[in-house]
Formats: sequence, C-alpha cells, structure tokens
Amino acid sequence: MASDRADTQHVGEAVTALARELDRFNRFEGQDRAALRRNEWRAALDHPLPARGQGLEAVTALLRDVVVPNGLRNGAPGFAGWVTTSPTTSAVVASLAATVAGSQRWWVQSFNFLETVGLRWLQELLGLPDDLQGTFCSGGSTANIIALGAARQHAFERAGVDVARDGIPAGQWRVYASTEVHHVVTRAAAILGLGRRSVRGIATDDALRIDVDALRRALDEDAARGIQPIAVVATAGTVNTGAIDPIAELLEIARQRNIWLHVDGAYGAFGVLDDRVAPLFKGMEEADSVAVDPHKWLAAPVGTGAVFVRDRARLGRAFTLEPAEYLEGAAAEGEPRSPFDGFGDPYHDFNLDQSAPSRGAAVWAVLLEIGAEGMRDRVTRHLDFARRVAERARADDRLEVLSEPVLSICCFRYRAPGRDDAALNDLNARLAQRLRAETPYVPSTTMVHGRFAIRPCFVNPRTTLAEVDGMVDAVRRIGDALS
Ligand SMILES: Cc1ncc(COP(=O)(O)O)c(C=O)c1O
Repeated sequence: MASDRADTQHVGEAVTALARELDRFNRFEGQDRAALRRNEWRAALDHPLPARGQGLEAVTALLRDVVVPNGLRNGAPGFAGWVTTSPTTSAVVASLAATVAGSQRWWVQSFNFLETVGLRWLQELLGLPDDLQGTFCSGGSTANIIALGAARQHAFERAGVDVARDGIPAGQWRVYASTEVHHVVTRAAAILGLGRRSVRGIATDDALRIDVDALRRALDEDAARGIQPIAVVATAGTVNTGAIDPIAELLEIARQRNIWLHVDGAYGAFGVLDDRVAPLFKGMEEADSVAVDPHKWLAAPVGTGAVFVRDRARLGRAFTLEPAEYLEGAAAEGEPRSPFDGFGDPYHDFNLDQSAPSRGAAVWAVLLEIGAEGMRDRVTRHLDFARRVAERARADDRLEVLSEPVLSICCFRYRAPGRDDAALNDLNARLAQRLRAETPYVPSTTMVHGRFAIRPCFVNPRTTLAEVDGMVDAVRRIGDALS
C-alpha cells in the first residue's frame, strides 16, 4: 500500500511548478531544436520501468526541465504546416478543469451540459439547423466514421435492413467522393465493413472540386449494375488546397436519388464565417451529416472533433450501446435527484466511445472567450493571409501560384527559368527542407496537378502578417540560393 504514492491533492501546486516553463514554451523563442537535441532528452526519459515510484516532484521536474522544452511547436507563429495548431489559453484551462472535475462526459453534471452548450454554439456559429444531433468525438477521423455509420444505417434501412443489428447483407455498395477526399474517409469505409474499394474516387475540375457530371455518370453506371449508393461525400475544404466541392449541386443530386449527403468540413466548415466564401457553403445546412473539427481552426486541444447528423433516432440506432444493467442512469425516469439518476445527454449512444473526456468544455471556453465575432475575425484574417501569399507570388517572377486560395491555404512554388516540372519539383522539395530547418517558417508541402507545392495552411491564431511575409521572403531567398 505504501508504495502507491499517487498524489491526489495538489494539482494547483503541480501546475504552478510548471507554469513558468509552460509560458516560456508558448513564447516559442529561438529555433525549434527538439529534433537536434533528441539524444539528450531521450536519454533523460528512456529509463527502465521504476520498481519504486519516484514521486510527484520527480514527475514535475522532468516535465519542466526535459519534456515541455522539447515539445511540439506547432503553435509557433511561423508554423503553417498542418490543419491543427496548439490550443489557446482558455481551451487549455478548460480542458484541465474538465480533466480534474469532469473526467467523464456523462451524468447530470455541469460538464455534460457543456457538451450540449458547446455543440449548440457550434451549430449556431456554422449556421446548421438546431434539430441536428451533434456529438463530440476524437477528431476528423472519427467524425467521418460516425457520419458514414449513420449513412450506412440510412442506406440499409431503405432496403429494410437494420445493419447495426443484423450486419451487412450480400451485395455491392459505394461511397462517392472526389479524388481529393481525405484518406480518413476511405478508412471509415474500411472500418464500417464497406471496404476501402467501395469509395469511388470521382475526378475533379481544374480547381480540384468534384466534377459533378462525372459523379452523375458514375451513379448511373453503378445503378445500372445494381450497386447500391451509401453516401455522397462533399469536402468543404480539402486538406491539399482548401477546395470546396459544389455542395448545393451535390445536395440536389443526393436528394433526387435519395442518397445521404455528408459534408466533410473538418478543416473548412468555419470558412462559412467569411462573407467572401460563405456562398460556397450553400447546402451544408441541408446536408445529412457534417463533420467539423474544433481542434483545427478553433484551436481546441487535439482530440476534439464534432459531427452533426440530421436524424437523432437513426444516429442512435447506428451507435446505441443498448441498455446494460450496470449502466446506472440508463433507465432512470423523472427528475434526477443525484447525478446517478440520469445520463444527462446520452452522447455514448451517438458515437464510438462509452467513456470519453468532456471535450465540450474547451469549445465552450473558446467561444465564450472570443465569441462568434472573434472566430469570424480569425477566419477572415487567415483567408487574408492566404491571399497575401498569392498576391506576393503573382508579383514575383520567381514565384508561381499553384492553387488560388479559396480558404486559408495557398499552394505556390519557386520557379527558375529553363527548368521543367521535374527539376522544379526537386528544387522545391530541397527548398522546403531548408526552409523548415533554417527559418522559423514551417509550411507543409503537397502535389498540385503533379507539381510540388509549398503549402502554408493558416489556422494558427498566433500567426501575423510578419510571418506570412517572412515566409514568402525566405522562400524567395532560399530558392535564389539553390537555383
Ligand atoms: C478535410 C479533412 N477531413 C478529415 C481530416 C482528419 O482529421 P483528424 O486529423 O482530426 O482525424 C482532416 C485532417 O486534416 C481534413 O483536413
């Protein structure tokens, strides 16, 4: 017994011991050296399992001196590499509070209610109708699994089969999505028993949006062969370039054929807040399901996804846990007198987890802190940044825009006279490596129509125009040196 040394009383003190280092980390001073220093910090951390615990102080000391200083700096202002960033302060403290005081999302307690409020605020912010059933989940991957799970339920119920109860009957099914769809959608089809190959990749137009005529042809062709449609997936903000599929047209096709329309807005749904691109989201509000990731543009802690599904009862049939005798609260009737007497909102019946953290707290906290206006301001600023990169690239004969910004991504490259695409691909790959190793600017890269692109994606609340211009200057400078 005496060897169980777990402290249970001093969270505040332990956080205070780390506070200075956490704030220092968040200033992102100097160059990121974690990779270069890896031998040092691995040696400090890579010990055999201790037979006897070393106590809380040993934990906080290592966190302060070794772990935090060598952490992930994707919140640094020059980081524009991913669609996730590190959380802002209110999101951090709300998650900490949820870990301490709301360690499960169920029951009649305040954190369960913050799930409900957080979802409602997101719905309102994004202009989604309030009759959709929302649920938080771990991210875009699970949001797409849940949405396609509901779509699968819908498709088979049309044929009189409760697929969640009875399994998938013999036959062939298809999910339709553009070739630019995120690969988590393909994995969702695999997990749902439809198979990766059930996702039919539809060609895109020059702007990398799904080709609607090609989709119609594919649907007709498959219908003639007796292949059943499960869902059409519209991506509202592709991960490569931020392209937005023509949602309204896809909605019309889906409605005509009674097919589920799912919008993967994991990255881009927040773009609807900017009037310049809001019309491109038309139809999202009528979709059958919408995936949204608060851990992307909203800068909630990673592990915070959300999905909204039109039909609560159907989502319930797809994902219910079904009653269990040990699950107290499941069968309570009337006014609860203790938290044990009710589940609060039963989110465990709408997604993949039974036990799950209270993710709504961070979403609620960010939106309470900055409001709808603050979020609109962030999105607008980031769209401006992408347009700034494009403007600078157009004005410079050594730079070339490879994808016109729609949301907050601008793909571009360095070009040198007399080099073909293969040579430029090689040059830009080396350029990107040097950029990330030698400067504070960290965009990612991708291929656009076979051309290697430098791909800044602005979702980081800490980024300013100085980093945007600094990155373009650095690309130009390194490109000149390499060519
Ligand atoms: C459009 C889109 N869908 C889904 C995902 C997957 O999200 P997650 O990484 O949260 O699982 C991403 C991630 O970038 C994305 O951009």
